[in-house]
Amino acid sequence: MQDVQSTQDTVRPKRPLLAWFDVRSRKLGSWAFALNRLTGLGLVLYLFLHLVILSLLLRGEAGWDAFIKLARSPLFLLMDAVLIFGIIYHGLNGIRVGMVGLGYGVRAQRGLFWTLMVIGAALLVASIWLVFTI
Ligand code: HEM
Repeated sequence: MQDVQSTQDTVRPKRPLLAWFDVRSRKLGSWAFALNRLTGLGLVLYLFLHLVILSLLLRGEAGWDAFIKLARSPLFLLMDAVLIFGIIYHGLNGIRVGMVGLGYGVRAQRGLFWTLMVIGAALLVASIWLVFTI
């Protein structure tokens, strides 16, 4: 039987932060988890940025109009596309994680993941089209 120390040695890498960048022998679930974490943190960052941007309204019409001009630039629209990707991926993958956590679709979770990703890709393409054409 393994003692506590040797169990921790095998489960917890010696350098946990560096281990994130070691992509050897990563499986689908591990990539899905890493991307979920990245998009989750990105959404938190966006929430704060969003509040900062909304505070521009306090400066009146001129400040807001200047921002709207910037928001319509291609680079900004591209960032909108990245944000939409994060929302769609995190939301859909989160539904899978929630379902599996509750015991639904545990055996089918690989197929569930790819099905949700196909739906997500369709939503993403439609959203990007709207972002760049409206
Ligand atoms: C459709 C809405 C959402 C769903 C279904 C969802 C679902 C989930 C689930 C299931 C987890 C746990 C993942 C795991 O244990 O592997 C999670 C983590 C997280 N979510 Fe969401 N989420 C949603 C929206 C958001 C939003 C709007 C934000 C940010 C403002 C956010 C930020 C986070 C963060 C920071 C984590 C922790 C990531 C980690 O430490 O791995 N989520 N989410």
